[in-house]
Amino acid sequence: MKPSIGITEKNLSKSTTILSQLLADEMLLYVKTRKFHWNVSGNSFMELHKLFQEQYIQIEETADLIAERITKLGGKAIGTLKEFSSLSSLKESANEYPAQEDMLKELMTDHEKLSVHYRHQIDKLSKDQKDAGTVDFLTGILENHESNAWIFRRYLAPAVQ
Ligand SMILES: [Fe+2]
Repeated sequence: MKPSIGITEKNLSKSTTILSQLLADEMLLYVKTRKFHWNVSGNSFMELHKLFQEQYIQIEETADLIAERITKLGGKAIGTLKEFSSLSSLKESANEYPAQEDMLKELMTDHEKLSVHYRHQIDKLSKDQKDAGTVDFLTGILENHESNAWIFRRYLAPAVQ
């Protein structure tokens, strides 16, 4: 049964398409953050090991909420690694184990990229789809990405401003 919540069927479908791409981004970032949690080494090992763990738990919760929002809007939540990797705008690197500082730079860039991406999609969902519920929902997630990007910027200062 299609949801009758004041959004046209066409716009519901556009919203779920956008949410599916964001779900793929979150799942890719989840896996990458977990890989870095497993492989980080160096003088801030334990601190970063714990920080990455905190972040992948948050990202996993975010992915879960996005997937459930897709179903609330009448869509089906994608759930295969193949779909996640083909839809995501982020890149992952097999057989690469970056040094501590490069992990920080890579995650900072990914959180910044997602902040830009979320901002753009929020604007689109508000103007074109009039989907205020999804806009409100995604704004909280945008703030999490901005906060995580800020944490990494602070670690990297003054190397990266
Ligand atoms: Fe662990």
